[in-house]
Amino acid sequence: MNKKILAIYYSQTGQLAEMIDRFCEPFLQAGNSVEKVRVELKNNYPFPWTAKSFFSVMPDCQLGVPTEIVPFSLQEEKYDLIVLGWQPWFLSPSIPFNSFLQNPSLQKVLKNTSVITVTGCRNMWVNAFERVKKLLKNSEANHVATIALADRHLNLISFFTIFHWLLHGKKDKYLNIFPKPGVADEDIERINFFGEIALQYLQKNDWKTLTEELYKEDGIFLKFHLIFMERKAGAMFRVWARIISKRKNKTLWLRLFKYYLIIALFIFAPIVYVIDLLIFKPFFSKYIQLQKQSILKLS
Ligand SMILES: Cc1cc2nc3c(=O)[nH]c(=O)nc-3n(C[C@H](O)[C@H](O)[C@H](O)COP(=O)(O)O)c2cc1C
Repeated sequence: MNKKILAIYYSQTGQLAEMIDRFCEPFLQAGNSVEKVRVELKNNYPFPWTAKSFFSVMPDCQLGVPTEIVPFSLQEEKYDLIVLGWQPWFLSPSIPFNSFLQNPSLQKVLKNTSVITVTGCRNMWVNAFERVKKLLKNSEANHVATIALADRHLNLISFFTIFHWLLHGKKDKYLNIFPKPGVADEDIERINFFGEIALQYLQKNDWKTLTEELYKEDGIFLKFHLIFMERKAGAMFRVWARIISKRKNKTLWLRLFKYYLIIALFIFAPIVYVIDLLIFKPFFSKYIQLQKQSILKLS
């Protein structure tokens, strides 16, 4: 089988790069050609981040303002499959993803081509995913499946550990007490298995049940209380983004946003978690099911 596959992504820390590599291994082993493009930015965001630089990108994430990327070219004019790596930043598609998606040669190959989206994140990707789905729809891509891996630890724990990772540049155990941040090594290893599953669908060129199968195999992280929380937070982030983008003294407003975020996380989030446990899970399981189905409904 010699199918042509394009795997394109941006990865600041290398986590998404590793996920894409492992996902594509089965395609390569089966004799397909896999063209990998790791997109670079003209002006890289700092890694490790400072707290100031980290929060300063929130308005552009929410408002979809792109940044300049290093130009790239693609070897083929048509692919059998495009593996599109993306990550959420502030509950929106990341600025680098949003930027490279606008590349004209990528837009050209996306049209009428099967696309599998792959994301690795902390734990809130659904808001951003709704926007990714729309962007792919506008590109007339055939969005056939998705994979979303996340940090499985408690929301509050992963909040501390991701900051340790992003502000110190090391994906290791904070103070040797906290767990490792980001997508767990075992989950990254297991993505190879999802690649094997996708390969069978590629061979048949019939993608109908792939997302369903990936979800059953735990390849799509969906937790209702987190979805509920990020939907509310997403609407608020957008309001903050609009306000901050119009202010002259952005530093002050970004600091206020940071405090808002901390309060939301420590007060609002635990309340939602308890409501989910006591009310939603036992009494609204049908509603939760429908919500999840709508998220997994692609093009
Ligand atoms: C500025 C910024 C904002 C982020 N916001 C989110 C978010 O809203 N939800 C989430 O689950 N993860 C978030 N993350 C984590 C990323 O999605 C991603 O998993 C992590 O940065 C790994 O980097 P890589 O994909 O570039 O390798 C954020 C990371 C950064 C740098």
